[in-house]
Amino acid sequence: MSAEHHTDTVLEMKDLYVGYYKDLNILQGLNIKVQRNKITAVLGANGVGKSTALRAAFGFLKPNEGDILLEGESILPVATYNRILKGLAYIPQQPGIFKDMSVEENLELGAWTFRRDKKQIRRKIDANYERFPILKEKRKQITGELSGGQQRMVEIGRTLMAEPKVLLVDEPTAGLSKMLSQEVYEMLTVLTSQDNLTILLVDQEIRQALKIADYVYVLELGRNKFEGPASEFTDLEKAFWVEG
Ligand SMILES: Nc1ncnc2c1ncn2[C@@H]1O[C@H](COP(=O)(O)OP(=O)(O)OP(=O)(O)O)[C@@H](O)[C@H]1O
Ligand SMILES: [Mg+2]
Repeated sequence: MSAEHHTDTVLEMKDLYVGYYKDLNILQGLNIKVQRNKITAVLGANGVGKSTALRAAFGFLKPNEGDILLEGESILPVATYNRILKGLAYIPQQPGIFKDMSVEENLELGAWTFRRDKKQIRRKIDANYERFPILKEKRKQITGELSGGQQRMVEIGRTLMAEPKVLLVDEPTAGLSKMLSQEVYEMLTVLTSQDNLTILLVDQEIRQALKIADYVYVLELGRNKFEGPASEFTDLEKAFWVEG
């Protein structure tokens, strides 16, 4: 682990033990540091605990041991609602948009933390239309009628309404075509470079994630297996669980 890697850690999971049942920890001493304005990828086989780590970071699961720090301060006592106010955002593995509502209505829902400020809501919606021009074109359309990639954009756009500092995103391109996936990955890199966002990306798309990530963690059975700059992960066969 190089010294310069940990200079500006925004989010940190420290010796984290988390599970769904008492005495059964899925995460067993996980350590992850997320650097400001970077994309940190968490990779690993099915069931190693990637999504569990994100749920714990967002406050949906309470760790049995260890700590989670946001800008150096423990957020374990902080409820999810207040984590959002502190700048955390989460896009879960299962899409959570409202397919029967219009694109713009979905975006409005992202404004619930400042729902009385109509001007601000308008400003944030327009910022999303600038970010994703296709959503402006389709703003009145029922979201369920959009392509899979566009629905992902609606979801990401809605999440960005609250202007988060750190985005936790779980398999953002699951179920999307190669071309749409490409668009989503590109969008994530743009968010770090233009919108100062810090991203913790959980993914099964190893090659794609390595392309856009700055730093990578590979998990095995709820623990760290490998970590390093994405550029150093050239020997895929060795670094991962890939067989043959
Ligand atoms: N709601 C739940 N209740 C009980 N056990 C769960 C729950 N969700 C996940 N688990 C278990 O926790 C372990 C880790 O699951 P998790 O979803 O974090 O894995 P993952 O790395 O995200 O896998 P995938 O790549 O398939 O999404 C698995 O053994 C899973 O069965
Ligand atoms: Mg998962």
